[in-house]
Amino acid sequence: MRQYTGLDHLIHSFDQALRSLVPGATTAQRENPAASKDSMLNVSDARHIAGLMRVNHTGEVCAQALYHGQALTAKLPTVRKEMEQAAIEEQDHLAWCEDRLRELDSHPSLLNPVWYTLSFGMGALAGVMGDKYSLGFVAETERQVSLHLQDHLSQLPEQDERSREILEQMNEDELHHRHTALEAGGVELPGAVKLTMTAISKVMTTTSYYI
Ligand SMILES: [Fe+2]
Ligand SMILES: [Fe+2]
Repeated sequence: MRQYTGLDHLIHSFDQALRSLVPGATTAQRENPAASKDSMLNVSDARHIAGLMRVNHTGEVCAQALYHGQALTAKLPTVRKEMEQAAIEEQDHLAWCEDRLRELDSHPSLLNPVWYTLSFGMGALAGVMGDKYSLGFVAETERQVSLHLQDHLSQLPEQDERSREILEQMNEDELHHRHTALEAGGVELPGAVKLTMTAISKVMTTTSYYI
């Protein structure tokens, strides 16, 4: 089997980053859950939902980066397959959010490269700390993402079934990813780390809504 050099890893990481950041470069493996649903929105609702979906899209860009960074440094001998499956499901989320943004005549956040880079670094650092922390980091991330999704679901107007179907499926998947990470031995992170993660995500969600 071929041994990969540092340069190979660098090129692979760059390729993964481009696929996550360039609109249309990621395709979903599962059908978009909104496929058969309707949504008639007035202009101001559509604008608000586009903001929410932009936040969710950036969250999914961060999820890609987190899994990519983690895969580079973590050992994960027993759970690599589950983590790879989770990463594939995150690609579905990314593509579905992108579809919805396009339908709403909007665009992904311009700050995504910044958030990708930061999340990649955090994922790689968590991987270096050891598998139980790395998995604990995934579990905590998914918990926080799920809280955001539930908040966004509560803000959707009743008639926006298309966004609702997407966010509900994402929430279900994220909670499953959390469960998988905990089952695999992820530990509870120190309170200070969790607070830092919450603070960073607050900056991300606030900026991505607008830009
Ligand atoms: Fe996701
Ligand atoms: Fe997830």
